[in-house]
Amino acid sequence: MKKTITTAAMLALMLGAPVLQAADAPATAEAQAKEFRDFTYKRFPDIKPADYIYGVYALNEDYRSQFDAMNEFPPYDGAIAQGKELWTKPLANGKSLQDCLGQAKGLRAMYPFFDSATNKVRVLEADVIQCAQAYGDDKIKAKSKEIKNISAYLSSESRGLKVDVSVPNDKALAAFEDGRTRFYQKTGQLNLSCADCHQYHSGQRARSETLSPSIGKTAHFPSWRLKADGLVPLHERLSGCVKDTRAKPYALYGSEFSNLEYFLAYIDNGLVITGPAVRK
Ligand code: HEC
Repeated sequence: MKKTITTAAMLALMLGAPVLQAADAPATAEAQAKEFRDFTYKRFPDIKPADYIYGVYALNEDYRSQFDAMNEFPPYDGAIAQGKELWTKPLANGKSLQDCLGQAKGLRAMYPFFDSATNKVRVLEADVIQCAQAYGDDKIKAKSKEIKNISAYLSSESRGLKVDVSVPNDKALAAFEDGRTRFYQKTGQLNLSCADCHQYHSGQRARSETLSPSIGKTAHFPSWRLKADGLVPLHERLSGCVKDTRAKPYALYGSEFSNLEYFLAYIDNGLVITGPAVRK
């Protein structure tokens, strides 16, 4: 052993803690998330942290009563029932999505996660589509009604559980940082980033809409949008926001949006999963 062992390293050895060589990935992610959340907490001192799941409707009482009215007769119950049927239905090879991914209960709460075998972020809808393809199904694919219904069913089966995303190692931290970079990257002819709208101008109006805060962007998806009269999974929502800057959006379920989801979901750690949820 080297003679010049530092006091900190000595302490760590004595306490049985690992001596950290490089940047500690979980600590770095947590510090960045704290800074990010603190910005929003400071901007909206009246919003209780747990209420960010309500998006724009967390901003004031008026909006919240609109929200409660919209939720009186949930429009997504039929979609959940159809998603449930698809979960156990035998696909072309005789096996079901449940055979591929396991019980629906709690599954949503295990995603997104960093897969150390492939060094990629895994998102739930992408895994469902991959299973369906492997089992010979050609209907359960990106943008299909089927994947939206399954997405709604899986969210409903994790309601009440909390978002719990971890950044376990340096490669995961790289994916997290890629997602974070995309959040601040300006896109399109309008040259706007997610942060421009959802951090720096959150709470303000953009044309006919009020901009929601940047916390609580993931826990309520898919959302049932009254405007579209249908379900919108998270990646389609992200795609819509990028299009609004007049940029060509990234591919649904590709690495760019998956890393962005990973970053946003990490920010949402501790929030209650409530999807599907109604939005204007
Ligand atoms: C030009 C402004 C603008 C930009 C840039 C923008 N958004 Fe949005 N976004 C909106 C508006 C307007 C809405 C609808 C009102 C609301 O919920 O904020 C919205 C809604 C959303 C929602 C749904 C919120 C909910 O409660 O259901 C998510 C998630 C979202 N944006 C994420 C993003 C991300 C991530 C980016 C960057 C890739 C981004 N947005 C870029 C304007 C923008």
